[in-house]
Amino acid sequence: MRCWSFFAAAAVLTMAGAAQAQDVKIGLILPMTGQQQSTGRQEAAAAKLYMAQHGDTVAGKKIELIIKDDQSVPDNAKRLAQELIVNEKVNFLGAGLTPSAMSMAPIATEGKVATVVMVSGTSVVTDRSPYYVRTSFTLGQQSGIIADWAIKNGSKKAVSVLSDWAPGAEAGKVFEANFIKGGGQVLDTLKVPLANPDFSPFLQRARDLQPDTLFVFVPAGQAGTFARQFSERGLDKSGIKLIGPGDIVDDDDLPTTGDALLGVVTAGMYSAAHPSQLNKDYVAAYKKASGHRANFISVGGYDGMHLIYSALEQTKGNTDADAVVGVMKGMKWESPRGTISIDPRTRDIVQNVYIRKVQKVNGEPWAIEFETFPAVKDPLKEAAAK
Ligand code: DHB
Repeated sequence: MRCWSFFAAAAVLTMAGAAQAQDVKIGLILPMTGQQQSTGRQEAAAAKLYMAQHGDTVAGKKIELIIKDDQSVPDNAKRLAQELIVNEKVNFLGAGLTPSAMSMAPIATEGKVATVVMVSGTSVVTDRSPYYVRTSFTLGQQSGIIADWAIKNGSKKAVSVLSDWAPGAEAGKVFEANFIKGGGQVLDTLKVPLANPDFSPFLQRARDLQPDTLFVFVPAGQAGTFARQFSERGLDKSGIKLIGPGDIVDDDDLPTTGDALLGVVTAGMYSAAHPSQLNKDYVAAYKKASGHRANFISVGGYDGMHLIYSALEQTKGNTDADAVVGVMKGMKWESPRGTISIDPRTRDIVQNVYIRKVQKVNGEPWAIEFETFPAVKDPLKEAAAK
C-alpha cells in the first residue's frame, strides 16, 4: 500500500512536471502592504488588466502570474526572488521599488531569469543585471527637462525638497545640475524621511529661504499628504512656483487634492489625461477593473506585461533569458503614455516626457499635457557614455 502511494505520488508529480513545462510563470515582487502599498496595488491591477484584455496564452503557452508582497523590504525581495526561481521555477520576474530591485539583481543574474523593472526610477538599477529591462521611467528623464523649462520660464532661485532615498537623490541631482547650468541658483536641498513623512517643517524652511521656485520629489502614494500640507502652510498662495517630476501630481492621489495643486507644472512620462484613444480606453478599463484612476506606476506594469508577451511571441515561447532579453532590446510599441521603446544599448526605456499643468476638468484635477519632448533617454546613462 505504502509502495503504491509512493508511485502514485511520483506519477502525479511527473504529470504536474509535464504540465508545468507548457507553462510560463511570471513572478512580480511588489510592495502590496505597508507604506508603499498603493504602488503594488497599481502595478498588480495593471498587469492583471493586461492579461484580462490579451488572454493568458502566448505562443501556445499558458501564462501564470504570481504576485508576491515584499512589504518594500529589500531582503524580502531577495528571498522571494530566490523562492520564485527555485520553488516556482518562474521564467520571468518583475521588479518593483528601487531598493528591492537592487537587492534582487544578483539573484536574477545567477538564476538567469529575464526581469522587467516595472517601478524603479533610479538610473543605476538596469546596470545591476544583464537580464534587467525597464518599462517604468527614470527620475533623471523628467527632472532635467523640468529644470530647463523652469529656467526658460523665469525661475532663478530654487529650493529642492526631496524624499530621502535613491530616487529622490537622483531627481535632485539631475534637476540641480540642469538648473545651475541654465544660470539658476539652488538655495538649499532639503531631505524628507521616506517613512511617515511630515512635510510641514521642510516646507516652512523652504519658504523662509524665499525662492521663486520649489522643486519637489515625493514617491507615488505621498502626493495627497504633500498637497494637504503644502496648502495648509499657505504655499499654494505664496507665489512660489511648485514644480517637479510627475510623481507630485500622481493620478492616484490627484482626485483627492482639491485645489491645492492647481497650476502646478511638472515634467512627467504619463498622465491619465493623455489624449490618445488608446489611453482613454486604458483609463476607462482600469477604472472599471479597480475603481481607481490609472497612474504613472500602473503603465510600468501594463507595458511590462506587453514586453513579456511580445518577447514570447518573437521567441516562439522560448524563455531563455538571453534569447528573451535579446528580442526585448530595441522593441518599440504604442503604450497608453505614447510611443515607447527599449534602448538596445542600455535596456532602459525611451519615452516621451510631457510638460503638464494641473487643471480642473469636470470638477477633478488632472495633469493636462501642453508640450512634448519625444523619445527621451535616461540622461545619466547618456552622460556616462560620452
Ligand atoms: C520609485 C518609486 C516610486 O513610487 C516613485 O514615485 C518613484 C521612484 C523607485 O522605486 O525608484
